[in-house]
Amino acid sequence: MKQIYGVIGDPISHSMSPDMHNDAFTDQELEAYYNAFHVRPDHLEDAVKGMKAIGVKGFNITVPHKTAIIPFLDQVDELAAAIGAVNTVKYENGQFIGYNTDGLGFVAGLKEELHESLIEKRTLIIGAGGAARGIYYSLVSEGIREIDIANRTVSRAQQIIIENPYEAKSNSLTIQAAAERLNEYDLIINTTSIGMKPNVDEMPISLQHLRNDAFVSDIIYNPLETKFLSEAKKKGASIQNGLPMFIHQGALAFRIWTGVEPNIERMKAIVLKKLGG
Ligand code: ATR
Repeated sequence: MKQIYGVIGDPISHSMSPDMHNDAFTDQELEAYYNAFHVRPDHLEDAVKGMKAIGVKGFNITVPHKTAIIPFLDQVDELAAAIGAVNTVKYENGQFIGYNTDGLGFVAGLKEELHESLIEKRTLIIGAGGAARGIYYSLVSEGIREIDIANRTVSRAQQIIIENPYEAKSNSLTIQAAAERLNEYDLIINTTSIGMKPNVDEMPISLQHLRNDAFVSDIIYNPLETKFLSEAKKKGASIQNGLPMFIHQGALAFRIWTGVEPNIERMKAIVLKKLGG
């Protein structure tokens, strides 16, 4: 009998995770199947109980359940607790244990491209939502020390910094203030949805003061190159889209569930094909 894995979200039909994980299960010759489940918020608790009852071995959680699911789990690991969101659950000894691989997936993708040490990078995160929390706590847990957060609502950025259990030197800024001192940053990361299809002409911040040796990353992968990235490239900066983060969050979840390292290049190819790239 195949073991069951899946992803829960609302909406969920657009998810590329089933294609990516089912191919990885086949590739690794594992008797397992990954399905997308549409779970509305008022059914979340029942869905979690039901998945335990039928023996689901692991699942991903996407919008809007990443924070709401926490009370329904038996345990949450330290990083996911700091982030306040869970995107991966593993069944172990009768318990559902929550993890967060989004931010660590981002860091893994970054390390593929940035060959120097991350630790010295002066970093700016744009946005202070769930994605920003995951990336901020993952970067500081990896040792980045100087990392600021700019957000339309500055108090949300400040909240992330106040709740940080790790050591870091951080300021919260308005988008305008960050734009004016953009030349101070080596690494600039957009975690907002600004520039995502269909709003492809929008940018999260002005790049007027961007340095040509900066590294600019956008967690959006649809389009594969946002206006933010294409403008950064024009200024000579190195750029990275959101695909590596998506692939690596999946690869880390796969490893948590199975203990096996999936083939990253194969995962990338599946997702690119699905995106029509
Ligand atoms: P996620 O969990 O995907 O990160 P979120 O929690 O809704 O999503 O956060 C979205 C982020 O994008 C926030 O930082 C939000 O800014 P606010 O905290 O001020 O709401 C930012 N954002 C989204 N749309 C925006 C817009 N049009 N202009 C400026 N910031 C925007």
